Amino acid sequence: MSSSGSILMNNKIEIPQLALGTYDIAKEEISNVIESALSVGYRHIDCAWLYGNEKEIGASLSQQFQKNEIKRSDLFITGKLWCSFHKFERVRQQCVITINDLQCQYLDLFLIHWPFAFVDHDPQNNEEHQSNVDDEIDFIETWRAMEVLVDEGLVKSIGLSNFNEEQIERILQICKYKPVVNQVEIHPYCPQIQLEIFCKIHQILLEAYAPLGANNRQWKKENDPEILEDKTIKSIADKYNVHPAAILLRYIIDRNLVCVVKSANYQRIEQNFQCINQNHFQLDEEDFNKIHNDIQIRFRYHQVEEKKYAKEYPFKQWKDFIP
Ligand SMILES: NC(=O)c1ccc[n+]([C@@H]2O[C@H](COP(=O)([O-])OP(=O)(O)OC[C@H]3O[C@@H](n4cnc5c(N)ncnc54)[C@H](OP(=O)(O)O)[C@@H]3O)[C@@H](O)[C@H]2O)c1
Repeated sequence: MSSSGSILMNNKIEIPQLALGTYDIAKEEISNVIESALSVGYRHIDCAWLYGNEKEIGASLSQQFQKNEIKRSDLFITGKLWCSFHKFERVRQQCVITINDLQCQYLDLFLIHWPFAFVDHDPQNNEEHQSNVDDEIDFIETWRAMEVLVDEGLVKSIGLSNFNEEQIERILQICKYKPVVNQVEIHPYCPQIQLEIFCKIHQILLEAYAPLGANNRQWKKENDPEILEDKTIKSIADKYNVHPAAILLRYIIDRNLVCVVKSANYQRIEQNFQCINQNHFQLDEEDFNKIHNDIQIRFRYHQVEEKKYAKEYPFKQWKDFIP
């Protein structure tokens, strides 16, 4: 990490290490959330067409730019291509829609959200959105279309999300531009150690989503293990006199990964941002190892249960689940 809190990606572009996640932030709330995040210092915003709030984020960004306190070039904005738009000719169209909705002129990073595709969907058409898997659309076709976006200057960098090693390997065999990142779920119950080793070899940076265990998920089950309630995490938090969330965020930051955390609450937005600051507190090696090596529970909070039959569902194998 550089002193500015950024990490250099394989295309020599810097990415701010801490990002504000925008999943599940209501349209009515988003403007305040963006304003709060920018005011406390976030410069990286993680968006996706799926989250249904890109137009509102765009309106809020535009307001912030008008105040002249922040410029477009100060920000790092990530968008994601949803599974319904994996066909070659659809990728550019969808990217332009996202750029227009976000009012951001270009994307700093555009990710393929999941490796499997849904039946092609025209985003201009108001008919109900289809989410039936279409195994005939190969993500190789999608990646080739993503590369054209770089050549056209619509996006600065392109990457992946929720891809496993074999799927990344296939991209690496054909690519003109290497993926700069792979955004996946990472926290002590899903540490992704093997994937991290693989990605390091290929200079692909891992981005950690759900670092706090996605406590807001609607599909929560009664017996799910909650990482914010974990005994080891809580005892380490007591030792440093911080909230367990701060320990979980530092765990990602100390691994030199990008950390994508969502909050719609001003105080928590601010507290989470403080965690990037080494002066706030640092985990000592023993505590880091307790989290990294001693916690035995394994759990994924984001699983897309109903898509498990898709040919390219990424987490079928035991090794994709237990790192
Ligand atoms: N690529 C993908 O497929 C994918 C999948 C999932 C998520 N993501 C991205 O990753 C982001 C983060 O993941 P996530 O939203 O699933 O989960 P998360 O960031 O692990 O957790 C968010 C939950 O934690 C709460 N929270 C935030 N800060 C807290 C703190 N300091 N103390 C206690 N609770 C706190 C939030 O509540 P409040 O809002 O009330 O603070 C919210 O309920 C998403 O928003 C999205 O941008 C990507």
